[in-house]
Amino acid sequence: MLANPMTIAQLKIHDFRNIDFADISPSSTFNFIIGDNGSGKTSFLEAIYMLGHGRAFRHLLSSRIIQHNKSELILFSKIIAPNQQTHTVGLSKARSGDNKIKIDNDEGYKLAELAKLLPMQLITPEGFDLLTGGPKYRRAFIDWGCFHHYPEFISLWNTLRRLLKQRNALLKNTIHYNQVLPWDKELVPVANKVSQIREDYIAQIRPEIIKTSHDFLPEYSLECQFYSGWDSSTDYATLLVDNFERDKLLNYTSVGPHKADLRLKIGNTPIEALFSRGQLKLLMCALRLAQGEFYAEQLNQSCLYLIDDFASELDLSKRTLLAKRLKSTGSQVFITAVDQEQIQAMVDENDKIFYIKSGIISA
Ligand SMILES: Nc1ncnc2c1ncn2[C@@H]1O[C@H](COP(=O)(O)OP(=O)(O)O)[C@@H](O)[C@H]1O
Ligand SMILES: [Mg+2]
Repeated sequence: MLANPMTIAQLKIHDFRNIDFADISPSSTFNFIIGDNGSGKTSFLEAIYMLGHGRAFRHLLSSRIIQHNKSELILFSKIIAPNQQTHTVGLSKARSGDNKIKIDNDEGYKLAELAKLLPMQLITPEGFDLLTGGPKYRRAFIDWGCFHHYPEFISLWNTLRRLLKQRNALLKNTIHYNQVLPWDKELVPVANKVSQIREDYIAQIRPEIIKTSHDFLPEYSLECQFYSGWDSSTDYATLLVDNFERDKLLNYTSVGPHKADLRLKIGNTPIEALFSRGQLKLLMCALRLAQGEFYAEQLNQSCLYLIDDFASELDLSKRTLLAKRLKSTGSQVFITAVDQEQIQAMVDENDKIFYIKSGIISA
């Protein structure tokens, strides 16, 4: 059974990178955005991403995202929620630093509320970081799931960040461990809870990840293991005491949930040492799809898929495989491509094709 869809029914973009103005009504199925290099395809996906995250995915500086010579960018969308209710989401970012989020015309919403309303999976050519980059990329992957599947996670995660920041600041001026102890008494239970949730999430999604990776790369068997950020046979409180002298020198808490990772291997070989770029792309897609499908199955609502440069690194058979799998989710999907030929075979009746040229989008 297909999960209830979440759909962007209308999208307006003002002064976002090279897109002056756009007002489009996407299809609830596949949307293709075709254009030459530099035409604004990635910018278009970034605008959608920003609606659900409050920031773009390439540059974090809003001054880079607001169109040159403009004072602010504005995004607006009409969303049909899985329960069929319609919501409006508006977001603006000004050079002055003034940011606004409006949901159903009310201000004062937080980013977490946007993210709940607009869950999405992003697949870009830079997304190999998920496999070959540092642990922070895989932590973000784990925490996406924890955020959506465990309502208590966000506040634990925020508390954890605050406590670690305070602890690190305190380490600078500390002589005896006793001075840090009150912080650690708060930190330890929060760290344990965050870690338990992550472990639980990974235990649940792990079979899905392994199965999807096998569907995409049948000749390999992936191993996927959660690492909490410290040796799990040791009590975190004890580790904090044992590492105190070192942490003091570093002004930094060297072990803890902020070091968590998802360790991916094929046998004993790390993935980046074994896989071609095409295989890396397939594995990255497998992870994102497994996560999106697990979300849909558990919460009975679908998430969006944003796929930049769909064809890069993939031959026709792999493109077909991926397209078929995406279609089977019943989700709304946005796909960019340089050439219509690359996607022609996957266009169905209800899908829409948009063309983009120098930031101007036409249906
Ligand atoms: N803040 C900005 N204002 C205006 N144009 C921008 C801004 N940031 C980037 N651009 C331009 O937008 C164009 C589109 O970039 P991009 O979306 O990456 O294209 P594509 O993905 O189609 O190759 C580029 O030519 C880039 O120079
Ligand atoms: Mg691009």
